[in-house]
Amino acid sequence: MRDTDLSLGDLIDMQIRTSGPISLATYMGLCLTHPSRGYYRTSDPLGVGGDFITAPEISQTFGEMIGAWIADLYVQMGSPDAITVLELGPGRGTLMADALRVATRVPGFSDALNLQLMETNAALIEMQRDKLAAFGPQWTEDIGELPPSPLIVIANEFFDALPVRQFVKREEKWFERCIGLADGRRVFGLSPTPYDGTLLGEAFSNAKDGEVAEIGLAGRQLMEQLGRTIAPRGGAILTIDYGYEHTQPGETLQALSRHEYADPLAEPGKADLTTHVDFEALGHAARIAGLTIHPLVTQGHFLTSLGLEDRHSALSKTNPDKAEQLRSAFERLTGSSQMGTLFKAFCASSPGLAPAGFVSR
Ligand SMILES: C[S@@+](CC[C@H](N)C(=O)[O-])C[C@H]1O[C@@H](n2cnc3c(N)ncnc32)[C@H](O)[C@@H]1O
Repeated sequence: MRDTDLSLGDLIDMQIRTSGPISLATYMGLCLTHPSRGYYRTSDPLGVGGDFITAPEISQTFGEMIGAWIADLYVQMGSPDAITVLELGPGRGTLMADALRVATRVPGFSDALNLQLMETNAALIEMQRDKLAAFGPQWTEDIGELPPSPLIVIANEFFDALPVRQFVKREEKWFERCIGLADGRRVFGLSPTPYDGTLLGEAFSNAKDGEVAEIGLAGRQLMEQLGRTIAPRGGAILTIDYGYEHTQPGETLQALSRHEYADPLAEPGKADLTTHVDFEALGHAARIAGLTIHPLVTQGHFLTSLGLEDRHSALSKTNPDKAEQLRSAFERLTGSSQMGTLFKAFCASSPGLAPAGFVSR
């Protein structure tokens, strides 16, 4: 069999047979971003025909509110001559196109804008290139190479797609969760030697037997690097994702394929693998980098305090035939049984800024 005929599952199984079980973080990293077979390297997973739908694909107003948020920060920073806007995982480019349609109305913003995108998926990069052509986007893989201007970072449903490690408590000790093979099938197991606990903080000290500690090291490291980049030059990070406010034991790994939950071990690279974001841990990483953390708010709170309701009313008046669609989109974005409460908006900024939507609860 030629190498090109092998599926990602075959490659992972070979690696396990050769070198032993792999950690969940290694498994997730391979499934999501393996250079030729990773989930986020190949086709477009978004939208009704894909595996899941994201907020900017539900309504243009989601990106528009983020555009207003960016514009407000730009003005708060004194309308600098140069500003870098970096989006992490821009998907189809929809969020940024909607956001920049709004933000570029602010005097000076268009001339100051340097748009940077960080993306692994070649098919999505082509869509971003088309949709954002008017704003002269550039793609970057290295935050250290961004221009030295103030920096605003936007990330919607990005941090949930980064690998996590999991540790399971057994008889007062922690063991890392691994993926191995049993009877030729991929199975979860535990490392034979206990983990020394370096990454596990206070929040896990009273964990019960069998509970899981989920540690998103990649997300924390990225947040800290972004924080260290923003702190000396000014700016902010806005990230919207599903997750929890306080670090706590729990197991949140899930696989999604064609809008249905799937077995995360069944078809590596074919399903989206995500975990809920630990916002307290992200906040800690940004704080040690020198940023101010603003109180976490729900997506519903964030969008409505930026004027989502008024925007939907205005659009319904000018497009009465779309009124029902707009009403349903508003409910999806803000409703507590939909995305409104499960999704949270997190913001860390350079000291002295008061990012809109986070000012009061
Ligand atoms: C769930 S999608 C969200 C897309 C978009 N933000 C939206 O809201 O529609 C995740 C995005 O992050 C990208 N992505 C995933 N892992 C990445 C990584 N390690 N580096 C850069 N981009 C990544 C994916 O290709 C995709 O564009």
